[in-house]
Amino acid sequence: MYPLKRNRRLRSNEAIRSLVRETIISPNDFLVPLFIVEGKGVKEEIASMPNYFRYSLDLLENEVRELWRLGLRSVLLFVKVPDNLKDNKGTEALNPNGLMQRAIKTVKNICPDMLVMTDVAMDPYSSYGHDGVVKNGLILNDETVDILTDMSLSHAEAGANFVAPSDMMDGRILSIREAFENNGFYNTGIMSYSAKYASAFYGPFRDALDSAPVDMVDVPKDKQSYQMDPANRLEAIRETEMDIDEGADIVMVKPGLCYLDIVREIKNTVDVPVAVYQVSGEYAMLKAAAEKGWLNHDAVMMEQVTAIKRAGADVIASYFAKDVVKLIS
Ligand code: PBG
Repeated sequence: MYPLKRNRRLRSNEAIRSLVRETIISPNDFLVPLFIVEGKGVKEEIASMPNYFRYSLDLLENEVRELWRLGLRSVLLFVKVPDNLKDNKGTEALNPNGLMQRAIKTVKNICPDMLVMTDVAMDPYSSYGHDGVVKNGLILNDETVDILTDMSLSHAEAGANFVAPSDMMDGRILSIREAFENNGFYNTGIMSYSAKYASAFYGPFRDALDSAPVDMVDVPKDKQSYQMDPANRLEAIRETEMDIDEGADIVMVKPGLCYLDIVREIKNTVDVPVAVYQVSGEYAMLKAAAEKGWLNHDAVMMEQVTAIKRAGADVIASYFAKDVVKLIS
């Protein structure tokens, strides 16, 4: 008697393992989120995201050059907006000389071939910390879509290659695509946060941008009326197919690890590239456990990004991008 098949042959040494490995991580997999603040010479660590920083535009230049040197070719920009510039309509988001618009130009100036994507959402600009206009305890959909459309045009005018609407309003992809076509931005793409869940894993990000919903009467305490219920699967397919019909070039599932079943299902269902956002809380969890010596940081990090890619991610937005690329190069 002997085993009919010996699967361990294909695992018996590193040469054979690497020969038959199905999922290989490379710098081309990553989209690097960058946090930007006003000021000069600012590089501040985000308290709940160890070793991740907010940069002022002058220091952003060095960071972008380093990313390029490491082989990272795509960035996703976020801005932290001073409180005195926030209002219910996110007016500052449309300022042609606003921080985001200047950040786009800064990156394009020093690194013209770097792919620049921008987060399109009102929350960093909203005095209520919401991704939409607040009225009588509700988030208004269509009024918000109009603002997101103008915001997208403003990013396109500043030179963004792709906009990434992360708000989850209905109909915003169609509205943005139409505005791009009508204004000659035929080549500006849309990466839609199409299946974005109302997740508690966004906590550290909201610290980074000071963008959490405020605690006030007549302001919703959470984002559950627009972001998706973590219990739902079919809803993710519906949202994603709708965004593709409306003109999304790339769709996204967010967060990552807890939603890999959704990633695989979307990957098997659609024919556009699928992005996955490994979010701030996922980053913070591993950093904290590693700091305590409870997990091996690099090994767990590689296991996580490999699992995300294996599940079907064509693009991984991750705060680990630099760490990963340094480790594998
Ligand atoms: C803004 C936005 C959020 C994230 C990306 N874009 C926060 C939110 O929706 O509350 C989260 C990213 C992360 O946690 O890393 N709409």
